[in-house]
Amino acid sequence: MWKAHWTRIIENAMDFVHLPFVHRNSFGGAIGKKALEAKSVAEYEIEKTAESIKVFNRFDNIPSGFALEWHQPNLVVLKFDEMGVPVRVHLFGVPINEHQTRYILTILVLGETDEISKASIAEEFIKPVIEDKIVIESQIGEIPNTTKECNVPTDRATLLFRNWYSATRRLKVKG
Ligand SMILES: [Fe+2]
Repeated sequence: MWKAHWTRIIENAMDFVHLPFVHRNSFGGAIGKKALEAKSVAEYEIEKTAESIKVFNRFDNIPSGFALEWHQPNLVVLKFDEMGVPVRVHLFGVPINEHQTRYILTILVLGETDEISKASIAEEFIKPVIEDKIVIESQIGEIPNTTKECNVPTDRATLLFRNWYSATRRLKVKG
């Protein structure tokens, strides 16, 4: 159980740009190091459907890629397998109340892998979750619709989520 609004957890999972910074001591560091050494430029695409947002991110000069999908309302699929790591993560933020969320994480290790390796891979993916928890629990309440923060083009996915949430909240208040 996390002491946070569920939208904070989903927003964090969609914010792929934080990986090399917040998770520099776990897998994020490896992503950033390779890209910096190769002086890569990140290219990304966002595909919005009626019920989902799909993000594709790749570097222009190294074989690395990353994709995630948000599905309404509270599921994010992290496709590390598209980055060469045979892992796919499903992450749910299940609201308990305004201040608490049940964080459900399923880590699927793809391909032929023995149980010991699976456990150690899962361990690798749990460390960043703990790093996120500290940041997310410092955020008060639900995600705002507008922000006084400086946004950059790679924030588009999280801003689309904020817009969807805000529109859905307005419908609920009207209904
Ligand atoms: Fe994170």
